[in-house]
Amino acid sequence: MGYLFHNNPEAIVLTDQNNHVIEVNESFCRTFGYSKDESVGKHIDELVAIGTHFYEEATDMSLRVSSGSMVDVESMRRKKDGTLFEVAITAVPIIYKDKFYGIYTIYRDISDKKRAERKIREYVDYLKRVWIQTISALGSALEKRDLFTAGHQRRVAKLARAIATRLNLAEEDVEAIYMASLVHDIGKIKIPAEILSKPASLMPEEYMLVKTHPKVGFDILSEIEFPWPIAEIVYQHHERLDGSGYPRGLRGEEIHRLARVIAVADVVEAIMSDRPYRKGRPAEVAMQEIKALKGKHFDPDVVEACVSLFELDVFTFDD
Ligand SMILES: [Fe+2]
Repeated sequence: MGYLFHNNPEAIVLTDQNNHVIEVNESFCRTFGYSKDESVGKHIDELVAIGTHFYEEATDMSLRVSSGSMVDVESMRRKKDGTLFEVAITAVPIIYKDKFYGIYTIYRDISDKKRAERKIREYVDYLKRVWIQTISALGSALEKRDLFTAGHQRRVAKLARAIATRLNLAEEDVEAIYMASLVHDIGKIKIPAEILSKPASLMPEEYMLVKTHPKVGFDILSEIEFPWPIAEIVYQHHERLDGSGYPRGLRGEEIHRLARVIAVADVVEAIMSDRPYRKGRPAEVAMQEIKALKGKHFDPDVVEACVSLFELDVFTFDD
């Protein structure tokens, strides 16, 4: 038993009812820099937490353990030389026949683990930034060629993100919607620019060609292993609840719920922005249009969320 205590790789300290140190093991001395003689008899919180922001938390914790609860926390403690380090603390009350005798506390130095976690988080943030830059670049490649859609994807992305946030969607869903919107028309890269910017109505065969863009977008984007279902969302952004959309005529629940958000944002942006052959129309017109098609073409919750954004005047396309 004694061997296990003294040679345990984790720092262990045994304290009495008043939280004064009775015994420490070798790892405790190594971790905190105090000798056994310097530790025994001292109040444990004064030894490892005094003079830090964590003193109050340490004394609170001691109090909780003294009243019989086991405590498991991650916090910071101080070494003899004053350096703070991240530590996982498990403190167990020693109770025998309903009498409290003291506390058995284990300290695990987790600074390496925390450092590694921070590195991973920074790396994930970096990757996300690169994803956004890559997707934005991809989106603007299309807009450079086709002035007709210049800014369209970015404005749809802004509105779709606002709707998703209003719908209280999870953060990764909001991100997915934003990313997918930025490239939702990327498949138009395969359509001749004259057709895209044609002021008059399209010939049936031209319209057939335009309707291929969600699938072309899907083919382009599914080459990339995104952490979000971007290709599938792009594939479905022209599908409508009643099956009247394209390219596959999906219905209701068959349509990805995130694609249903972009569908509304796409239509609203298209109505409100200027086109070579007409001026943009006011928000009220766009809202009337989506309200009229609520439940037929568009998801009712998405329509409600979008309408409330404009009615409450909390959204604008302008930067
Ligand atoms: Fe589109």
